[in-house]
Amino acid sequence: MEKILVWDWPTRIGHWLMAATFLVAYVTGDSEEWRLIHVMAGGALAGLVLFRLLWGLFGTRHARFASFIRSPLAAASYLFGLARGQAPHYTGHNPAGGWAIVLLLALGLLAALTGWPLYQDLGGEWLEEVHEGVVNGMLLVVGVHLAGVAVGSLAHRENLPRAMVTGYKSGDLGEAITSARAWAVPIMIVAVLASSWYFSR
Ligand code: HEM
Repeated sequence: MEKILVWDWPTRIGHWLMAATFLVAYVTGDSEEWRLIHVMAGGALAGLVLFRLLWGLFGTRHARFASFIRSPLAAASYLFGLARGQAPHYTGHNPAGGWAIVLLLALGLLAALTGWPLYQDLGGEWLEEVHEGVVNGMLLVVGVHLAGVAVGSLAHRENLPRAMVTGYKSGDLGEAITSARAWAVPIMIVAVLASSWYFSR
């Protein structure tokens, strides 16, 4: 196996922006004073999720949903393999990680869809409860995601967070992506700013 380019620029920048906006939205969620920042961060997160959904269809090889959404059975089999110390190495996301990603994107979208009407003074207390439930569910999945990243890094002796920074992982030469598509980053940033602005109007 060689060091090959696996994660394109929008996937990497989008990931770290997603982590940052989630953190900001989470810590400002309970405060009246930080409400605008909370809504702007949540709106930005929604923009990142929407962009990621499109990137899952039109992005580079390992960013596409078709390359990492596998059956729940494949995810279970990967986890059993991991427990026995025999999990196969995946160049892109492993099948269990793939499901965590689907959940994170779905919950991110749900958090925005339940948060936006609240900011418009619609919905009332029940919607607030739903919004909180969704966000706490997301925090739980983030915890599982971080544990999965740590375990995967140790099991495969590969620093996965660093790979999300540099874009490089181990893999067969034929699995490398041929372009990091930096041109799509400004498009993503415009989408994120527009979404953040729209949510906080
Ligand atoms: C310091 C905190 C975090 C670290 C170190 C981290 C690390 C990683 C790594 C290493 C991957 C790639 C996993 C793989 O190799 O298959 C990944 C993917 C991902 N993470 Fe995180 N993560 C963090 C926080 C978050 C948070 C807070 C969220 C969501 C709110 C998140 C959402 C995602 C998503 C959606 C992906 C898939 C990336 C893509 O294909 O676009 N991460 N993360």
